[in-house]
Amino acid sequence: MLLIMMAKDAIPRIRQIILDLCKDKDWNWKGHIESVVKYSKILAKKTGADEDIAEIAAWLHDITRMTGDPENHHISSPIEAEMILRELHYPQDKIDKVKHCINAHRGSKAIKRETIEAECVASADALSHFDNFNDLAYWTYKKGLSAEEGRDVIMRKYERCWKKMMPEARKMAKKRYDAIRLLLEK
Ligand SMILES: [Fe+2]
Ligand SMILES: [Fe+2]
Repeated sequence: MLLIMMAKDAIPRIRQIILDLCKDKDWNWKGHIESVVKYSKILAKKTGADEDIAEIAAWLHDITRMTGDPENHHISSPIEAEMILRELHYPQDKIDKVKHCINAHRGSKAIKRETIEAECVASADALSHFDNFNDLAYWTYKKGLSAEEGRDVIMRKYERCWKKMMPEARKMAKKRYDAIRLLLEK
């Protein structure tokens, strides 16, 4: 008999894989990923998207970025995600949907988001940065940017975040986006 794993069984396993990867990193990956998961579930509920697809994609969306492929993690993470999900006997049609969400999550890449779940994950990825302002500031410091350069990089990052968010997500971020612009815009 073919063993098909349900999302309720797969999610705790995927969560554990990612939380283990978050350990001993020099950036707050745990904070970022947990925030993306939180917002993916909220947005999926609000928009009627498939919550399991959105949540699984959220857990896995940056997996190869965490393991050393920042440039092309939107290409390599779906491949890694498929290996993990196949091992868990997750259904292939759902794996394909998860892969699309991961492939299309970056605002800096011109990849069309073709499903509502992909929109939710991309928006959640952007929203997470409104929870974790300090981590972005720390990242610019670690990169050796001056205070001035850091401010520009952070402002541009939030502008990109805003651009890629669906209306429901913008509503949730509006106050914080206005506050950031007030503080950082020249
Ligand atoms: Fe990413
Ligand atoms: Fe991310």
